[in-house]
Amino acid sequence: MGRMDMPAFDRDAVSRELRKTRALALSALVSGLGVIGGVALVLVDLEEVTLLFIAGCVVLQVVLGLLGFGVGRRGVERIKALRLPVELTEAGPLRRWSIFSLVVAICGVLGGLLLVGLVLLIAAAGAGMAGGAWGRPLRVGSRTVGATLRTSMGTALERGHRWADGHRPRVEPLDEATRHALGMMWLHDASKEHGSVPAFAQLTWQLAALGAPAELLARCQHSALQEIDHAQRCFAAAEAYLDTEIGVGPIPAIVSGSSSTRGPVRLACLVARQTLEDGCFIEDLNADFAERAHTLARDSAMRSLTACIAREEREHAALAWDILRFCVELHPRVAAHVRSRLDRLPIAIEIPYAISTMETIARADPQALAEHGRVPFDEWTPLFEMRRERTLQRVRALLDEVGSVAGLAQAHLNAS
Ligand SMILES: [Fe+2]
Ligand SMILES: [Fe+2]
Repeated sequence: MGRMDMPAFDRDAVSRELRKTRALALSALVSGLGVIGGVALVLVDLEEVTLLFIAGCVVLQVVLGLLGFGVGRRGVERIKALRLPVELTEAGPLRRWSIFSLVVAICGVLGGLLLVGLVLLIAAAGAGMAGGAWGRPLRVGSRTVGATLRTSMGTALERGHRWADGHRPRVEPLDEATRHALGMMWLHDASKEHGSVPAFAQLTWQLAALGAPAELLARCQHSALQEIDHAQRCFAAAEAYLDTEIGVGPIPAIVSGSSSTRGPVRLACLVARQTLEDGCFIEDLNADFAERAHTLARDSAMRSLTACIAREEREHAALAWDILRFCVELHPRVAAHVRSRLDRLPIAIEIPYAISTMETIARADPQALAEHGRVPFDEWTPLFEMRRERTLQRVRALLDEVGSVAGLAQAHLNAS
């Protein structure tokens, strides 16, 4: 048999293409793993650098995947053009790696689209806030979390403990819809107050890590005790309106979540920005709401509850302002960080209730809601905007003051 008539063929080139395709496919895969790692980090703590890292990984994954596919296809085409009677050893792996490369690139595109959605969701969650809820929000990473609540209606109170303790409102004159609406709203607040207890414990822990003075830690611990009292009294009100017993279960997000500290300056930045939003802004706003609720309330239990919450939330806000000062005085980078985050303060108040609760509220007697310590929805935005404006003014003044004191100290140091 004579020699087969074959076009010029460089076998080394095919081997090179196979190696290149495999390397590109595996690099694209590693970028994809980078995306997954980045997402895990974002869920613990939302940071711009992590988002940039994820975006970079997605782009790399898609570009490397497509390159791998291109190189692989070229090799496959080259082999095809030879029309060999027997398949070349490289042909199978080349085809498989180029398809694998394409799949990784497609996953990158789909993952990228999903991530854009996730980022928008997280941003929306960050822009939202606790609404009329009272207490410092409990956060794990960028999420606000709370305990599992169980009522004696339906399921048994297996693992929960009843927190309800305190003066109960008079519910007999209320119609069914109003009672239910009041119950759902006070239950929501009770759950937020309950979350404030570990939120202050976490803050105490962070302040101790930053070497804060005893006085700030003592006020934090005292605030946590006040939040326990708020929670117990709110649960008592919710039980009375809903005519049921409520068990407070575990907080699954704390059990599985973790808190990361990466150096004192970064921890101080984290504490400062969370304190600005959750303490200086939200607790002052909570106090505004409670004061307004107190002027509206006629029921004696709800009058004393709103008075107590108004007074003590104002104390918690004052503590938050002192903690913020402590943090920005620790290091100039903390002040710069807080200043750079001012436009992230929530810009609008959102109604925090579920649709079903909103339906009940719509059927309830608005006069009775107000007399039982609920601020009407049309007053929420003016209260919110006034507090936001005051918070921004106050934090800017604080940052200017701390900045000029630091500047003077530096000048003094340079002169001596
Ligand atoms: Fe509070
Ligand atoms: Fe509270």
